[in-house]
Amino acid sequence: MKTAKRFFSLEGIDGSGKSTQIDMLIKELESEGYEVVKLREPGGAKISEQIRGILLDPAFKGIMGDDTELLLYNAARAQVIAEIIRPALAAGKVVIADRFAWSTFAYQGYARGLGADKVQRLTELTCGDCFPELTVVLDITVERSRARTAKRGEAPDRLESEKAEFFEKVRQGYLAAARDYSDCVQAIDGDRAPEDVFADLVKLVKAKLV
Ligand code: TMP
Repeated sequence: MKTAKRFFSLEGIDGSGKSTQIDMLIKELESEGYEVVKLREPGGAKISEQIRGILLDPAFKGIMGDDTELLLYNAARAQVIAEIIRPALAAGKVVIADRFAWSTFAYQGYARGLGADKVQRLTELTCGDCFPELTVVLDITVERSRARTAKRGEAPDRLESEKAEFFEKVRQGYLAAARDYSDCVQAIDGDRAPEDVFADLVKLVKAKLV
């Protein structure tokens, strides 16, 4: 994939600490004078947020087909790219996405079993050259993920209600991405104090911004 400068994404299974790390990263980059646009996927634009509602609705569990799911994640992405990401990058801003196309690789490609080839073809169509130059995976075990999300006490959405084996496959998908695409995907241990995780994250991001 051709990648876009100043475009970063964070990945990981639920409870990996993405939100905390993204907030810390934005604070750090803004203190250095960068203008930063933050978004989450699926979402980040009005149409994409509405698609998110469909994707995560627990009422569609057992009804939504795997290909429908794959296409809807890509439809949400196509919109946020056109409406938010491309204009921000063209204006010289840094874009930080809470999840992006490597989620599709791990969740739909690996865990749903649709395969890397199919996901990659669609990703090329959806993203073109608008693909993060660096994605950092915050790696935690599925047990840790379950313990952290249980603490939140929220009702699970359609994806969160999948079984532990599904998330084990997602995790393996992320680790495979970091192994096979190390030029643009790096995995770091997310099961540490937030400051220690952040030290690694900020080093990786700043190395790209020089
Ligand atoms: P989150 O914002 O709470 O992480 O919810 C998004 C959910 O959607 C999460 O379970 C991961 C999943 N997802 C995919 O399955 N494929 C994708 O391409 C993306 C972006 C997210």
